Amino acid sequence: MCGIIGYTGRLDALNVLLRGLEQLEYRGYDSAGIALLSGKGDDRLLIKKAGPVAALKETCENLKVESHCGIGHTRWATHGGVNDTNAHPHIAGKVTLIHNGIIENYHNLIEKFGFRDLLVSETDTEVAARLLNYYYSGDPYEAIRRTIREITGSYAFCIMFEDIHDKIFCVRNVSPMVAAHMEDGSFVASDVTAVIPYTNRYFVIPEYQIVTLGQDGISVQDFEGNPVSPEMLEVNWNIEAAQKNGFPHFMLKEIHEQPEALRNTITPRLENGLPDFSEDGILDEVLSGCDKIAIVACGTAMYAGMVGKALIEPIIKIPVSVNIASEFRYESPLVDEKTLVLVISQSGETIDTLAALRLSKECGAKVLSIVNVKGSTIARESDYVFYTHAGPEIAVASTKAYMVQLASLYLIGCRMSMARGKFTEAEARTFISRLTDSISAVQKILENKKRIKEAASLVAKAQDAFFVGRGLDYAFSLEGSLKLKEISYIHAEAYAAGELKHGTIALIEKDTPVIAVATQDHIYGKTISNIREVRARGAFVILITKTGAEIPEDICDIHFAVPVSHDQFSVFPVAVILQLLAYYTSDMKGLNVDKPRNLAKSVTVE
Ligand code: G6P
Repeated sequence: MCGIIGYTGRLDALNVLLRGLEQLEYRGYDSAGIALLSGKGDDRLLIKKAGPVAALKETCENLKVESHCGIGHTRWATHGGVNDTNAHPHIAGKVTLIHNGIIENYHNLIEKFGFRDLLVSETDTEVAARLLNYYYSGDPYEAIRRTIREITGSYAFCIMFEDIHDKIFCVRNVSPMVAAHMEDGSFVASDVTAVIPYTNRYFVIPEYQIVTLGQDGISVQDFEGNPVSPEMLEVNWNIEAAQKNGFPHFMLKEIHEQPEALRNTITPRLENGLPDFSEDGILDEVLSGCDKIAIVACGTAMYAGMVGKALIEPIIKIPVSVNIASEFRYESPLVDEKTLVLVISQSGETIDTLAALRLSKECGAKVLSIVNVKGSTIARESDYVFYTHAGPEIAVASTKAYMVQLASLYLIGCRMSMARGKFTEAEARTFISRLTDSISAVQKILENKKRIKEAASLVAKAQDAFFVGRGLDYAFSLEGSLKLKEISYIHAEAYAAGELKHGTIALIEKDTPVIAVATQDHIYGKTISNIREVRARGAFVILITKTGAEIPEDICDIHFAVPVSHDQFSVFPVAVILQLLAYYTSDMKGLNVDKPRNLAKSVTVE
């Protein structure tokens, strides 16, 4: 949450910052701001505006400023409303500061240091700026060390001092930040998307170390002043991957990238038609040695986990639980040395998921994480990492990351079934060939998306929509309903179809859209009966079945058929239909598809 960019070097800092903020805007888009040091005397320029980065850019358009050192921020508000004053950077005396995270004891600090009358904003960040300034008397390291000792909470700070014209100082706890140096200067950013136009080599700023960005290099030291050499990482995608490439929105582009993302995630892990994780360092003992599995995640990643449970539990026959990470932390989870905790996270930075991971390790469990972002905190702290290869996902609503999380769960489920003697080699081979067939099923839906757009034009008129299904179909309906509500603002809920009668059916009126997923043969008849019940009450039914399914007369208004080699694999094409339905609905309503209101891509506050 919140995008941070800092630059010092030979290039024009204003351009670098604005470009960086555009790349990072998906992290938060309530307001944006920049601060530049002029390099002459004590000149410092501060511009901040409520609204998107575009508004800031417009304000900066005719600015004549020569600066080679500055910091920029795009905000997702936590403390204090969305207005120019609360936007970052914040200035206190000689200090200019931007921050991602939450300073939990900011109230105490205001009282302890008597800051009340000095503050102009309602933010916790300004308190940190005040504190830094309070401690600053020419030694930035001393001021940072003393400030950090006083603060509790999570933070990624980027600091400039008015009398140090070409340096940026950074320090963090939990909230992510990366740094990179190239010939033209040094960069800091909340994630690599802002750095990638300049270099593909970077490092993750280690927690509780002070990083100094200078024009000619970056130095890192611990709190005792000892030099530290952070591990360098390389990004394996280029800037095109983080651009729209002709698509009107990132979300549509990312939906179309799914076949490739699936191939990139699945193919390198196949050896002679069977799953093989030796490159990932995940041995069979890890998969066979547990007596239960706890899946932990948030949002879409958690819904991928729901599909994982519905798939894996009936095959391996040990308990698989799916846990909302923010709840898991506070409910004394039943996790021990015999539990395999499967953590799922696109960003690898979601704070509740990270906290759940740490708790699981304290309980003695082994943690295997499914993560998209290389070198992210969750990846680094897990015992084993299974990287998904979706490439950068920029749209706030997750699509291709969900798809590859599913593929990963299918691969892990298959290898686990082999390791536990539940699949013969032949069964595993068949399973994998069905999984790879799913890629072409996804492709087919993309090629025939026109009808989904037509269906969306009808959904767009609704206030409420319901998604129903049973078993696996229910598991993927959950994600379908999340997708619709988060980007179209239509109230959407998913229900196990059999549960409708216990209350929800009261909400069905004439023309209420019901998206019914019925791809599981063994419960098809039952789901169809549930659809009849809503149909009898006037629902507008969009039905999704397998190709060739027998469709009773007058059961639906719109029917989509998905090509599926086996019921277990219908999630892949169905997910695309549900994603496109949400996408077109949002677009038709004229909404900001990629940056839906109030949301942010990476949730790094609790
Ligand atoms: C936010 C995003 C979702 C994502 C969730 C978990 O809510 O908007 O798309 O599913 O966080 O994020 P993670 O990075 O841990 O998968």
